[in-house]
Amino acid sequence: MNKPFFQACIFDLDGVLVNTAHYHFLSWQQITNRWKVTFTEQDNESLKGLSREDSLSRLLHITGKQLTPAEREQTLIEKNELFRQYLTQMTPDDVLPGVTACLRFLKENHIRLAVASSSKNARMVLQKTELTPWFDVIVDGTEIEKAKPDPEVFLKAAARLNIQPHQAIVFEDAKAGVEAALAGGFCCVGVGQADILQQAHLIIPDFASISPSDLWISLSGLSADVKY
Ligand code: BG6
Ligand code: MG
Repeated sequence: MNKPFFQACIFDLDGVLVNTAHYHFLSWQQITNRWKVTFTEQDNESLKGLSREDSLSRLLHITGKQLTPAEREQTLIEKNELFRQYLTQMTPDDVLPGVTACLRFLKENHIRLAVASSSKNARMVLQKTELTPWFDVIVDGTEIEKAKPDPEVFLKAAARLNIQPHQAIVFEDAKAGVEAALAGGFCCVGVGQADILQQAHLIIPDFASISPSDLWISLSGLSADVKY
């Protein structure tokens, strides 16, 4: 196997490694149901990757709902309680198809692995799904000042890996996450819908749709396309 241009892969968590992106949506939707306003999975695309607080601001903008500061605080608490109810039921079966094979392949090829998530629940998710031991570095929402689309979480992961951004590939399912990766000078693979993630250097629908060795070939060809 040729030596690749990248030394590390940095993964977003929710929606890339585990199916929690859907649980975030369902939690917000329980709240909007109570408000008696419509909030669809398509609307949710623009919340993905944002911090809890920024997600609520975006939700209020989308739905036109208005809250007092006290109601806002209460809504953030409720949303997290709803989300954590889903988390308590999580098991390794919630790891998305193809993910473990990909992580194994990268490790076997001496690529270092990190998680960079805006979520303050990221460590619990990794623990429940038994993914923690795969990663050399984990940066979560409790450790950053600015959430995606700011690149801080990815830059912090790269610094802890002791590498430069151009030596890593970021995997993201959110538009805000792709923007964060590009703003930080990373090569970015979008995982999901091409129309939403079009700014990424490479887009895959999910890890089940591509074998680890084919993904490796695609990743190795990326360096020439990436403008730093
Ligand atoms: C991100 C999700 O990983 O974490 C967002 O993509 C979520 O949808 C954000 O809002 C914050 O998560 P938490 O668990 O701290 O509310
Ligand atoms: Mg995500």
